[in-house]
Amino acid sequence: MKQIKAIPMLDLSQEITELWAEYNTAIQTVLRSSQFINGPETRAFEVEVAEYLGVKHAIGVNSGTDALTISLRALGIGKGDEVITSPFSFFATAESISNAGAKPVFVDIEEDSFNIDPKQIIKAISDKTKAIMPVHLYGRPANMAEIIATAIKYNLKLVEDAAQSFGARYFAKNSQLDAKFTGALGDINAFSFYPTKNLGAFGDAGLITTNTDELAELALKLRTHGSIKRYHNEMLGYNSRLDSIQAAILRIKLRHIDKWNAQRRNAAQYYNELLKDAFGIISPELSQGHIFHQYTIRLIDADRDQVKTKLAARGISTMIYYPIPQDKLEVYQGQYASYANSNKLAEEVLSLPIWPNISKEQQERVVTSLLQILN
Ligand SMILES: Cc1ncc(COP(=O)(O)O)c(C=O)c1O
Repeated sequence: MKQIKAIPMLDLSQEITELWAEYNTAIQTVLRSSQFINGPETRAFEVEVAEYLGVKHAIGVNSGTDALTISLRALGIGKGDEVITSPFSFFATAESISNAGAKPVFVDIEEDSFNIDPKQIIKAISDKTKAIMPVHLYGRPANMAEIIATAIKYNLKLVEDAAQSFGARYFAKNSQLDAKFTGALGDINAFSFYPTKNLGAFGDAGLITTNTDELAELALKLRTHGSIKRYHNEMLGYNSRLDSIQAAILRIKLRHIDKWNAQRRNAAQYYNELLKDAFGIISPELSQGHIFHQYTIRLIDADRDQVKTKLAARGISTMIYYPIPQDKLEVYQGQYASYANSNKLAEEVLSLPIWPNISKEQQERVVTSLLQILN
């Protein structure tokens, strides 16, 4: 019997093969330099990525989670403060707020964009609110014009969780925000380079961005045990540095990210075409600037978990981002009200396989199987 090859959620093998020699040379250069932490590769990556994003400062750290926590700490956010964010995200979003000592305040999301609803933010502002943390979920920029206007009006800080949106641009006609990258719009912002991210390292890695000198200096201090000058620790910080091998890999990948993001968008467009007459499926909008870190559909007339299991039986991997909204996680049990859109989407969403060079044939197989299961 002919064996049909399984389709994973993400397949980096072609990319790794294509760039094998470059990756090898970069790793060997680090080995020869013996500078494994905060070496020249890390600094070079910080300079290049800041230039790419159009920000004044980029500070490499250990992970996206650390980038968020350190950003909040740099803003002086802690005990007694509230930070407004989306319930529909990976737990690192809320966890960073809690770990900084503050309270996450969730507001519901927009049904079509999966992102925080700016109108709900205004209703949740209290005298304890210090910041807003929008998440650009699946690589789609949140509605930043309205969020920024609210932040300015109520004198709140803005921390973008751009973990899933490297290279995504926010478009707003006739605005100075137009075509700016996500992660370049807030006061201080966080990216993740976890290996499955659209810009992924070969291990944990993250980045903080800011245009404010004082925040950059604080972030630099916080990532190295609260010190700039060795053995002169001024505050409690973290051991959260971006190691040189990861930085060297990210420098190479940064040169390809626009092409890879465009390929992701093309793949998303093709899925949308294949699904355009499908009953019971809402496919994602091909909104401007969206880089489709994930391609996520909504199954509105079927048992999503069963569909996922049946696809798996046919060798097709899918993922649920996220089955439990953050407010409903055990860690916060009983502390929050419910958020209708977030709850509904947690039951409906299914992310299909996507990566830059997924083939049309693979996408057709995913959709054919999906439609057979649904009919
Ligand atoms: C929205 C969001 N925020 C934060 C993070 C945390 O990033 P990291 O895994 O690099 O700590 C992730 C990554 O999974 C994420 O998806």
